[in-house]
Amino acid sequence: MNQHNRHDQHGQHDQPNQYVAYARMDALHALQEPRTSSPFEMSFILISQVKELLFRMVHLEADQARARLAEDRPEAACRALTRTVRNQRVLTGCWESMNAMPADEFLGFRDTLGQASGTQSFMYRLLEFTLGNRATAVVRSADLTAFPVLRAELGRPSLYDEVLRFLARRGLPVPESVVARDPAVPYTPHDAVEKVWLSVYHDPDGHRAAYDLAEQLLEVAYQFSRWRATHLLVVERMLGGKRGSGGSDGAAWLRTVNEHRFFPELWTMRSLL
Ligand code: HEM
Repeated sequence: MNQHNRHDQHGQHDQPNQYVAYARMDALHALQEPRTSSPFEMSFILISQVKELLFRMVHLEADQARARLAEDRPEAACRALTRTVRNQRVLTGCWESMNAMPADEFLGFRDTLGQASGTQSFMYRLLEFTLGNRATAVVRSADLTAFPVLRAELGRPSLYDEVLRFLARRGLPVPESVVARDPAVPYTPHDAVEKVWLSVYHDPDGHRAAYDLAEQLLEVAYQFSRWRATHLLVVERMLGGKRGSGGSDGAAWLRTVNEHRFFPELWTMRSLL
C-alpha cells in the first residue's frame, strides 16, 4: 500500500484519506526539521515555509497579470493584480507571527542556521525578477545559479516590460529603446516613460485602461515595500545592529534595499503631477 492509500487516522474504513492524498499533507508535514528542541525554531521554520509558499502564490498571480497584458486584456490583468495584492497582504501579515518570538529565543537557535539567509530564496528572487527588479548581481553572490527557473525568467519580459509594451501598443510614446530592451538587463528609469505616466494621470478618462493599470501596479509596489519595511523592523527587533547570517551588514544593508521601488516612474512622476 502506498502512502496515499493509508487508512484514515482512526483506521475505521478502507477509503483513502483524500484530503491528505490530494494536497500531500503528509509530505508537507514531514518537511520541518528543526536542529534544536526549541519550539521557537519549529515556528521559525513553519512561518518561513508559509512565506515561501506565499512568494509562489504572489508570483502565480503576477505572472497571470503579465500574460493577460501580453494578450491586450488590461481588465483581466487588473483583476490578477488585485489578487496579487490580496496575497501580498497575507504575506506581510505573516510577520505578526514571527514577531511573537522573543529575541533571546531566536538567538538560542540562530547559530544552527549557519550562513542560511533569505537572500538565497530563489522563489523570492523569481518574484522580484517577474515584477521587474532584475538585480542580477545577487544571483551570483547568493549562489542562485543552480536554479534554472531564474535564468529562464531573465529571458522573458518582466511584468513592467509588458506594461510598457502595452502602453506603446495603445499609442503612448514609450521610446523604442525601452520597448525593445534586453529583458535580462536591470531596468533603468526613463524620463520619457515618466512623461507617459504623467499624461495618463492628467487625463484618466482618456486613458482609462492605463490609469487603472497604473493604480493597481502602484498598489503592488506599495505592498512589496511594506513587506520589506516590516522585515527590516523584525530584523532590528531580533538582531539590532548585528550582521546578517548571509554576510551583509544586516539592518543597514536592508535599509538600502528598502529604497528600491518597483515600477519606478510611477513613483517619481508624482513630483511632477
Ligand atoms: C528572525 C527573523 C529574520 C531575521 C533576523 C532576518 C534577517 C535578515 C537579514 C539580516 C537579511 C540581510 C541579508 C543577510 O545578511 O542575511 C535578510 C534578508 C532577507 N530575508 Fe530575512 N530575516 C528573518 C526572517 C525572514 C523570513 C521569515 C523570510 C521569508 C521567508 C525572510 C526573507 C528574506 C529575504 C527574501 C531577504 C533578502 C532581501 C533582498 O535581497 O532584498 N527573512 N534577512
